[in-house]
Amino acid sequence: MQNPWNIELRGLRLGYGETVVLEDLNAVLPAGRISVILGGSGSGKSTLIRHLVGLARPLAGRILLGGQDIFSLPPKAFRRIRRRMGVLFQDGALLGALSVEENVALPLSEHTRLSPADIHEIVLHKLSLVNLADFAGYYPSELSGGMRKRAGLARALVTDPPILLCDEPTSGLDPINAAQMDALLLTMKRHFPDMTIIVVSHDMASVRTIADHVLVLADKNVAYNGGLAELLRTDDPYLRQFLDRKSREDRSAPALSALDPSIRERLAEALDSWLESR
Ligand SMILES: Nc1ncnc2c1ncn2[C@@H]1O[C@H](COP(=O)(O)OP(=O)(O)OP(=O)(O)O)[C@@H](O)[C@H]1O
Ligand SMILES: [Mg+2]
Repeated sequence: MQNPWNIELRGLRLGYGETVVLEDLNAVLPAGRISVILGGSGSGKSTLIRHLVGLARPLAGRILLGGQDIFSLPPKAFRRIRRRMGVLFQDGALLGALSVEENVALPLSEHTRLSPADIHEIVLHKLSLVNLADFAGYYPSELSGGMRKRAGLARALVTDPPILLCDEPTSGLDPINAAQMDALLLTMKRHFPDMTIIVVSHDMASVRTIADHVLVLADKNVAYNGGLAELLRTDDPYLRQFLDRKSREDRSAPALSALDPSIRERLAEALDSWLESR
């Protein structure tokens, strides 16, 4: 097999019960590349990640990894393939009762027979990769948001996965930490040239820095699927909104609909008597 860990989406319909979130997705997310998933809030980015890692079953269609339909695999092979994916969830998903070292060690201590000494060494290596070696004994509540994200990334990487999925790794980070996270993902790509890296992002600066391939989700569908350079040249009005997003101050505020004058009067009276009553 040539690119064993390409991810192929074929006629994929995703949702929850009766609610369809994504309809008929078709795309290939190539191995050895960073694919960024873009889309407005609620467009289904995290939903796609949850299905890619096998936490939920598609309503229809198929997800192929290295040409294999993951949801038609026998249970054992399905578990095996799930273990080969490293995931950084949107909120980091660290366990508060465990130290950073114990959190990062979890996939190894739960699923392998490695000795504690080996696990310690592997975990410290991953922690130094994300610049957290000095914080191994800290608890998640003692870390900043950016540090928690980096710890989550160390945990996602601890099994040297061929597929790494990161849901909004830079959201909530200051520009310096966000740039460091981008640099880290680029380092991963260099270190592991065959790794399939999928990153959900809202952050255009980050997309321009890390993306090779971009998938834009809109209106339950794929609005763009292709290379970054071509996307940056698009004149599609919807896509341009993403690419040229103006700062909040530039956008006109949404019009506030006026409250009915008689209600406003009653409200003012009620507030007056409330304030005077104390
Ligand atoms: N567990 C769930 N059960 C039912 N509906 C859900 C569930 N999780 C998400 N949804 C719905 O699926 C839609 C897409 O949500 P999703 O979390 O995938 O969006 P997103 O693109 O990741 O948004 P954001 O950028 O805000 O993280 C939303 O309408 C949401 O209400
Ligand atoms: Mg999300």
